Amino acid sequence: MDISETLAKKRIVGLWRLLRGYYPQFITANLALAVSALSRTATYLLIGYFVDQVLGQGKSWRSMLLVALGFIGLALLQGGFTFISGWLATRTAEGVALRLRNYVYDHIQRLSFAFHDKTRTGELIQRSTSDVEAVRRFYQDQAMSIGRILLLFIINFIAIWRLNSQLALISVVAVPALVLISFFFFKRISDQYERYQEQDAIVSSTLQENLYGVRVVKAFARQDYEKEKFNAVSWLKYQLGRKLIFFHSLFWPGSDLIAGFQMLTGYVLGGIMAMKGVISIGDYLAYIGMLVYIIWPMRNLGRVIVQTSTALVSYDRVATIIRENKEPLDEGDYLPDGPTRGDVKFEHVTFSYDGEEGIPILHDISFHCRPGQTVALLGASGSGKTTLVNLLPRFYTYTSGHILLDGVELKRYPRSYLRSQMAFVEQEPFLFSRTIRENIAYGVNREVSEAEIIEAAKAAAIHDSILSFPQGYNTLVGERGVTLSGGQKQRIAIARAILRDPRILILDDATSSVDAETEEMIQQALQRLMAGRSTFVIAHRFQTVMDADLIIVLEKGAIVQMGDHETLIQQPGFYHDIYELQSRVDEAMSKDLA
Ligand SMILES: Nc1ncnc2c1ncn2[C@@H]1O[C@H](COP(=O)(O)OP(=O)(O)OP(=O)(O)O)[C@@H](O)[C@H]1O
Ligand SMILES: [Mg+2]
Repeated sequence: MDISETLAKKRIVGLWRLLRGYYPQFITANLALAVSALSRTATYLLIGYFVDQVLGQGKSWRSMLLVALGFIGLALLQGGFTFISGWLATRTAEGVALRLRNYVYDHIQRLSFAFHDKTRTGELIQRSTSDVEAVRRFYQDQAMSIGRILLLFIINFIAIWRLNSQLALISVVAVPALVLISFFFFKRISDQYERYQEQDAIVSSTLQENLYGVRVVKAFARQDYEKEKFNAVSWLKYQLGRKLIFFHSLFWPGSDLIAGFQMLTGYVLGGIMAMKGVISIGDYLAYIGMLVYIIWPMRNLGRVIVQTSTALVSYDRVATIIRENKEPLDEGDYLPDGPTRGDVKFEHVTFSYDGEEGIPILHDISFHCRPGQTVALLGASGSGKTTLVNLLPRFYTYTSGHILLDGVELKRYPRSYLRSQMAFVEQEPFLFSRTIRENIAYGVNREVSEAEIIEAAKAAAIHDSILSFPQGYNTLVGERGVTLSGGQKQRIAIARAILRDPRILILDDATSSVDAETEEMIQQALQRLMAGRSTFVIAHRFQTVMDADLIIVLEKGAIVQMGDHETLIQQPGFYHDIYELQSRVDEAMSKDLA
């Protein structure tokens, strides 16, 4: 089921639609509740009957026995149906929450890069755990309670009304007051809870970031600073929590007072009526029992309303994410039958991360990469190299100009197609806490043989390192397994990309943590493997760059030099300078070593 379709302007409508598929269960749960409430009221009526008709009239033991059996029967009915109702409500709540949680997770991973750039991970974790949990509690508890309270109120009110209508009216005078203060606090607690949840998300984010960067913290001996920073956000959460509790603690005694007053009035006035003989003693006893089930549920209505308000806030927080548009993977009117040839042409491409009004990061980029060619990108840090290659799989969409793939505008291809044709080795590759084999085979949508994995690992010059681990390809990466070096990670990521057998390979500084010799080995293997495929490579060493068919030098997002090695080396400029510098360093080093 597509949950985004259940979203509605009114939160309650949204929550109701979210139940789709669980309606029969949920309604049965409420009906079972009704039976159980009816049995309870019947018990009190039976007490009244017992006192007036059996005890009062000195009836036979047989009637006593019948009444006793009646009590037992009603108790069983009440217990049984309470169980059924609770059981069905739990099933509904857990089912809906499971579906919602999985949906939210899937949705988050389909949101655009731009969304993830601006959203903190802790915030997303908060919304897919704690907020989903609040929604679950709504179905399990509050939604059922509302049904229960209304039922108890209606059933008992009618039952009392049938005893004596005056008494019935007296019993509910305080109800409007209870409802009013519930709504009064409802608004305040809801606002407060929203602030509290937001702060909670900030605490999670801070915690997550600090733990992620714990090495940096240690290396720079910044524990105290980070501790204080954490304490500050944590303190704010504490204060907001206290305020929340404060509202709660004002609400409870207030509503208790009103409820207590109502009970007292009911008892006294009912007692007077009984003494005057307006109602019988049995009726009075029954009334006392039923009065409790009019007043306390109403007082609980306050609790339920307040808790519902928090559930609504959580629902909103989840819904905001679901409302975010997914990256449309299949949108596009041009879907070729076969693989792309890998002919990439940039024509006056401009790009800004913040849409048309933002500061452009790339200016007027034009070049042509013919099928099978290698394009090398060179430039200072921050010059826009990563940004440029990110446009190819459409992680981001260029703002103006044209990018043509095989002569067709890139925007016309479905993103899923583009990504199936490309393999990307990111600047900081990420490996999962799974085995090395799984990490290499990641992203290949078919069964891969051991031989293929080994071949890819060999091409990425990582095979021998893998074999040096006791468990070889079954070695776990990360927290529970080996910790890989930066260069090893990069090479596993390269193996992953090679195994994918792409038409276009993008290497973003993929060999920056690898020594020159290994880089050379990878380079040769790639040249063999990538023959006939287009490659975009960002690198800092000349060995890699020199052989490229086209070298592009970027400066502040614009192309300042373009051509092959032979051409660029003749021109004065960045390329020439860097080349000179590196040659001198190499010379000095070889002298030193000699
Ligand atoms: N996700 C993003 N949102 C906004 N701005 C970004 C984003 N990523 C990068 N930038 C900005 O774009 C500019 C170019 O960054 P880019 O990562 O493309 O540089 P680079 O050439 O790859 O640098 P390096 O060699 O250090 O990797 C920088 O000024 C950076 O601040
Ligand atoms: Mg970069």
